[in-house]
Amino acid sequence: MDRYNNPDLVLPSSESISGKVGWKSPSNIALVKYWGKYGNQLPLNPSISFTLSQAYTQSMIEYSLKDQPSEKPELDFYFEGKLNPKFSKRVKIYLDSLLEIFPFLKQLKLTINTDNSFPHSSGIASSASSMSALALCLCSMEKQLFGTLDDKDEFMQKASFVARLGSGSASRSIYPKLALWGESPDFPEASNLYAIPTKAVLHDKFRRFRDDILIVSREAKSISSSDGHMIMSRHRFKEPRISQAKKRLHFLLKALKEGNYQRFGEIVEKEALTLHGMMMTATPAYLLMEPNTLKIIQEIQNFRNRTGLPVFFSLDAGPNVHMLYPKSVEEKVKVFVDDRLVKLCKNGEYIKDYLGSGPMELDFN
Ligand code: DP6
Repeated sequence: MDRYNNPDLVLPSSESISGKVGWKSPSNIALVKYWGKYGNQLPLNPSISFTLSQAYTQSMIEYSLKDQPSEKPELDFYFEGKLNPKFSKRVKIYLDSLLEIFPFLKQLKLTINTDNSFPHSSGIASSASSMSALALCLCSMEKQLFGTLDDKDEFMQKASFVARLGSGSASRSIYPKLALWGESPDFPEASNLYAIPTKAVLHDKFRRFRDDILIVSREAKSISSSDGHMIMSRHRFKEPRISQAKKRLHFLLKALKEGNYQRFGEIVEKEALTLHGMMMTATPAYLLMEPNTLKIIQEIQNFRNRTGLPVFFSLDAGPNVHMLYPKSVEEKVKVFVDDRLVKLCKNGEYIKDYLGSGPMELDFN
């Protein structure tokens, strides 16, 4: 899809050009999971997520015109203040893949500084926050250098498109509270190419939802999400999974609109278990949950049965548990976390997060 390819975005080589852009962009937790892709980062099924707030990446790009133009952008990449060759490689590949969208990158020398709000090795999926922060920075550079993307909606849609090319889930982090990526009959404007904002559908009862991210392990995953997506393309349950996700999305949207906690919880928990079920029934079969993942899930289910409170779990492609609940029950949940869950977390660590207002541009003035 060459929708955003633009050969005109080339800088005059005579002028001296330099500048700085920066964005802070949050992670997200999918309620209906993106699992499996085709073509150039296109999803097998539509997905929807809560945009978080406290788990975020902050990225800054300083740029200046190179003395001599070359075929590739020149890059120094710092993660948490240090040059980081591993991340640098991924970012270089990503930038190289964007040269038809942002041809001016070839003319520039870039210094990227990136920090996460959460410990890098906490097992929190960081590609959503990091790739969305980077995509937003690139769109800000285009805006600064060419005076384009003045319209906010246009800016965000392009940022979501570009973020998707870095990591599918990153496309959704661009929008506040609730974002949907992938074609869906419920939203004629929805697209496989970028996410769309959907917070308007949220009933008041969901607007201040909390997400405690319970850290079970800090180890790197044995199989990355990208490999997991690839394995999905030959999964024997691929087709039923696609239609199941579409149906669940429809009913989840209804629950979110109506403020129906019970229906919400049923769907979100089934989605989390299905994601891991797909891993366990794949070829090769693999398992990312750990004993404490299951213990936490059972504790949450028991707590809900005991108290009748609307407290639910979700999982990413990893062992950590996201516990979702409305702000109104926060105090009771805190007591439960301290009594029963902290001891199941690695070093007692968990992140208190909640639905957030989306990415924020950094102001250097
Ligand atoms: C389980 O977006 O990390 O978190 O597109 O290969 O970068 P890539 O994958 P990624 O996959 C996320 C998978 C998930 C579900 C979701 O966020 O929808």
